[in-house]
Amino acid sequence: MPYVPTKEILDDANKKYYGVGAFNINNLEFLQAIIEAAEEENSPVIIETSEGAIKYAGKGNIERGVRFFYELVKNYGDHSKVPVSLHLDHGKDFAKIVACIKGGYGSVMIDASDQPFEGNLNATKKIVEIAHAVGIGVEAELGTLKGIEDNVAAAESVLVNTDEAREFVEKTGVDFLAPAIGTSHGAFKFKGAAKLDFDRLKKVKEENGIPLVLHGASSVPPEQIELANQYGADIKGAKGVPFETLEESVKYGINKVNTDTDLRITFIAAVRKFLKETPGAIDPRKVFDPAIDAMKEIIKARMKCLGSSNKA
Ligand code: G3H
Ligand code: 13P
Ligand code: ZN
Repeated sequence: MPYVPTKEILDDANKKYYGVGAFNINNLEFLQAIIEAAEEENSPVIIETSEGAIKYAGKGNIERGVRFFYELVKNYGDHSKVPVSLHLDHGKDFAKIVACIKGGYGSVMIDASDQPFEGNLNATKKIVEIAHAVGIGVEAELGTLKGIEDNVAAAESVLVNTDEAREFVEKTGVDFLAPAIGTSHGAFKFKGAAKLDFDRLKKVKEENGIPLVLHGASSVPPEQIELANQYGADIKGAKGVPFETLEESVKYGINKVNTDTDLRITFIAAVRKFLKETPGAIDPRKVFDPAIDAMKEIIKARMKCLGSSNKA
């Protein structure tokens, strides 16, 4: 299977009611884990990079960062047994979004969700015009997610307004929509039970019909938190979206399931364990290998949960 446009992957998922994992990467090792997992599960997969990841890869040179990820993912995709696409996650900066469109990404997200409705609509419309001219799909977000990341910060979440969603999709022509329904980025998503607003989700799906995206979808596996803490981390009160809640989200219309934190935690836990147990280690490949294997298992479990296994 070749490297494909994201729309191809998500249109199939939308038609057949399953979810596809969109996994964030910053480096080669995360990509290796994702591609191997996808091949073993015979699952389509979306690789995504934030603006921060592009900056990191290019050491501040955006074109270089875009080229790095495009060439890496295109090469892996073209030689893999499953459909693989590359997506820009949380694009905020016009020039960077355009650099990804020009640079071969299979889709981009314009995240102007921190702006008032009209501002979000106009910014999204502009990117849709540019991206559609070259056949690239666009994701946008309505409502805001709580959480602090490199480039994504909001103190409180504001859930999607379903009337606005209808107007937004109609006027922008956006391909995929991320409605805020109660998740947040990072490892600390819920104080009590994990509760999402499925009524809003169902309404957005019924009224718009396009592929929907769940941000902040990591499950934050307790055993990975425990392992990290056992080997020197200090992560307390972490809680993610349980698998049953992900399954329900997919049933009500989510097709793209964004996952970053789970791989970060799993990677760090495995690296901490290896370094503690192998004080003489100096070969980075030996340090990263167990982390790749551990991430692979986490990814495979998510693919099974979302229903994308054997859909390639
Ligand atoms: O939702 C954001 C992703 O987790 C990426 O985070 O900006 O720290 O790369 P980042
Ligand atoms: P998590 O922090 O739950 O992994 O969310 C990732 C995400 O939404 C990337 O856009
Ligand atoms: Zn996100």
